[in-house]
Amino acid sequence: MFSKEIQNQVNNLLSRYPIKQNALIPILLLAQKENNGWITEEWMQHVADCCEVPLTHVEGVVTFYTMFRLKPPGKYHLQVCTCVPCCLVGGTEILEYTEKKLNTHAGYTSADGLFSIEEMECIGACSYAPAMIVNEDYHEQVTPEKMDKLIDKLSK
Ligand code: FES
Repeated sequence: MFSKEIQNQVNNLLSRYPIKQNALIPILLLAQKENNGWITEEWMQHVADCCEVPLTHVEGVVTFYTMFRLKPPGKYHLQVCTCVPCCLVGGTEILEYTEKKLNTHAGYTSADGLFSIEEMECIGACSYAPAMIVNEDYHEQVTPEKMDKLIDKLSK
């Protein structure tokens, strides 16, 4: 199921761990990347086979960690931090502004499928709050104006 390039990365990861189960999380991240940002039951089974663990173990990991998604995200997945340091400088307002602008809510995808929003706990960028991640890129000291520019740019 993995592309040749990603399968090489999986093999490399598996070779580093004497117990294959210990490579589960990085391999799940590769599976999620390979499947356009989310994990299906079929992918969970495939990863379970790679790591020689029961499917229920993989399901437990995928449903525990918030970085794994069980439904397809938008083309651009906006992860807006509303943890205390970000909240104190407008993180919640940024989230609400984004929801209003995209006419959707955290946990959902815009009608055109371009944007999904996720409310996050600390993403490790507190010094640059309020912060967010778009796909894999960090955006710091986010303001409504910066959000407007970003969404306009990504919408083109
Ligand atoms: S609280 Fe938002 S990045 Fe840490």
